[in-house]
Amino acid sequence: MTIRTILTVPDPRLRQKCAPVAEVTDEVRALLDDMLETMYDAPGIGLAAIQIGVAKRCLVMDVSPSTREDGEPPQKNPITMVNPVITRVSEEMSDYEEGCLSVPEYYEFVERPARCTVRYLDYDGVEQELDCEGMLATCVQHEIDHLDGGLFIDYLSRLKRERIVRKFTKALKQREKA
Ligand code: NI
Repeated sequence: MTIRTILTVPDPRLRQKCAPVAEVTDEVRALLDDMLETMYDAPGIGLAAIQIGVAKRCLVMDVSPSTREDGEPPQKNPITMVNPVITRVSEEMSDYEEGCLSVPEYYEFVERPARCTVRYLDYDGVEQELDCEGMLATCVQHEIDHLDGGLFIDYLSRLKRERIVRKFTKALKQREKA
């Protein structure tokens, strides 16, 4: 397993549409393993393949608490999804403060359906359906947006979005100059 470099805005690759995976092969599993290691290292609760520059419809998540009251190491509960599709959403909405490893250190509230059902292929290539609620529902919708070039900042006002992209573009230019 390898920790990969995470792309950040304004990298144009984050805006591309990702291709479906034809079959969950060992190569795809190796990609999922790298994605999980990269996500845990960051640390984050979700990562889509395009965030490490691979334009495939794959995502990983782990929304388990990162600390435990008894001080024991937290239990990992990784979820990997290949070709995920949202098949149902609730009418009820919820508002969560979101962040993204590709928009580092920026957090903003986004309203999304409070619950959703996702159909996908698991690590073994078996079709699964998962009912998601709470933080998992928000996370999976956020990650699936990435597969079509979407970012959570797209839900913000144009003013806010342009401000944040400008900030990252400026920081990138300064890094390139240095
Ligand atoms: Ni993200």
